[in-house]
Amino acid sequence: MKVSIFGAGYVGLSFAACLAEAGHEVLCADADPARIEGLKRGLMPLHEPELETLVASGIAAGSLRFTADERAACEHGDVLFIVVNTPADAQGRVDLRHVIAVAAAIGRHRDRDALVVCKSTAPVGTAAQVESVLGGELSQRGARHRVAVAVNPEFLREGSAVRDCRQPDRVVIGSADPWAIELLTRLYAPFIRDPQRQLLVMDRRSAELTKYAANAMLATRISFMNEMARVAEHVGADIEMVRRGIGADRRIGPGFLQAGAGYGGSCLAKDVRALTRMAERDGHALRILSAVEAVNDEQKGRLFELMTHHFEGRIAGKTVALWGLAFKPDTDDMRDAPSLVLLERLLAAGARVQAHDPAAMANARAIIGERDGLRWCATAPEALQGADVLALVTEWPVFRETGLAQIARELRMPAIFDGRNLYDAAQVEAAGIAYYGIGRGRAVPR
Ligand SMILES: NC(=O)c1ccc[n+]([C@@H]2O[C@H](COP(=O)([O-])OP(=O)(O)OC[C@H]3O[C@@H](n4cnc5c(N)ncnc54)[C@H](O)[C@@H]3O)[C@@H](O)[C@H]2O)c1
Repeated sequence: MKVSIFGAGYVGLSFAACLAEAGHEVLCADADPARIEGLKRGLMPLHEPELETLVASGIAAGSLRFTADERAACEHGDVLFIVVNTPADAQGRVDLRHVIAVAAAIGRHRDRDALVVCKSTAPVGTAAQVESVLGGELSQRGARHRVAVAVNPEFLREGSAVRDCRQPDRVVIGSADPWAIELLTRLYAPFIRDPQRQLLVMDRRSAELTKYAANAMLATRISFMNEMARVAEHVGADIEMVRRGIGADRRIGPGFLQAGAGYGGSCLAKDVRALTRMAERDGHALRILSAVEAVNDEQKGRLFELMTHHFEGRIAGKTVALWGLAFKPDTDDMRDAPSLVLLERLLAAGARVQAHDPAAMANARAIIGERDGLRWCATAPEALQGADVLALVTEWPVFRETGLAQIARELRMPAIFDGRNLYDAAQVEAAGIAYYGIGRGRAVPR
């Protein structure tokens, strides 16, 4: 099948490469010509495991092509996916400019029937808006062909985007149009083993809301566990044991129960804010989600609080090795990353920071810039050199390669502030290092 994809970001590029691997003829367009030029030369604009190889083999096989020419992308596909960014501001207002721009372009350039699919996460009613923009453009030039608009939200996780595209838990198709449903069912066939279970067809508005509800549920689980972590600190329980204890219950399941330094990333916070606003517009306050957000905002400050406690308020002049900047391992995405909050607070308090991330250094530098007291370090061990203490914000597996003995040797006042509960407290302490985790059974004042 011929497929056009608008947006070569974390989702668009991963999806494009997987569709090409599955035998579709994919043309992937982006509004950023530099990104497209780079991709044509094999330069990856983002870090995602397995993606570079997959893109290279798609290009070599001729099944994956890139273009900055929107007209070419409007003409190529039988199915056209809108996978552009939909940022939300602090009030949860979603910026649909890019989605609408693609809809208008398709309306201007398309000369035959088409199925347009909204994959970007966007408020309920966006597909109808896309349809009306498209229809307006088509009728303005007297075009009569059929253009259907469906919704197909994406649930992949950064860091395992390729795996998630190849093996989706489920594919949600929002459409009442048998032609659209049939086309999308065929397109996804290579990724679906059990259609009865994995293929969910519903109306467009429900599909749009499903995406927000999924992210809101995931955010809720994390904030819930962060709240339980606070209880654990006060009652002398270990949240890691509690997590295993409740995760083994089939009604609850083990996923997304990690207490930590707060959730980040391009989706959870943005989508929770957008959903809250969507409901408020209809006069309905989402009380659970307001609490989820508030808990997360507070949690992003937790490591700094622990350090303030450890240093009895005297953080100025201390040097902190900061391991992990990306919002999660295996990505270079810095959007809404908890590391940004810790870094800003440390610098504002007069501390020095020696920061390292295996993949997100360039993106972090672009956001934070060069600052007094901040040193970017090429490796995790380099960040330890001359530091007083270590803060770990992202659980990159590579950090395990630096043993506790080395950490104890390098730190001047050995202490680990473990924002992801990566370490075993007893082992850390046996190595002569003070340990602070999240909800690990010790009462640490807030
Ligand atoms: N990142 C995730 O983990 C994830 C998961 C599920 C859903 N989503 C949703 O998918 C959408 C895309 O997210 P992302 O993380 O891939 O975003 P991104 O910012 O990584 O990529 C978006 C790309 O779209 C391009 N673009 C903007 N306007 C365009 C236009 N008119 N024509 C062609 N390209 C255009 C941008 O240049 C950019 O390269 C968002 O709505 C997001 O909420 C993201």
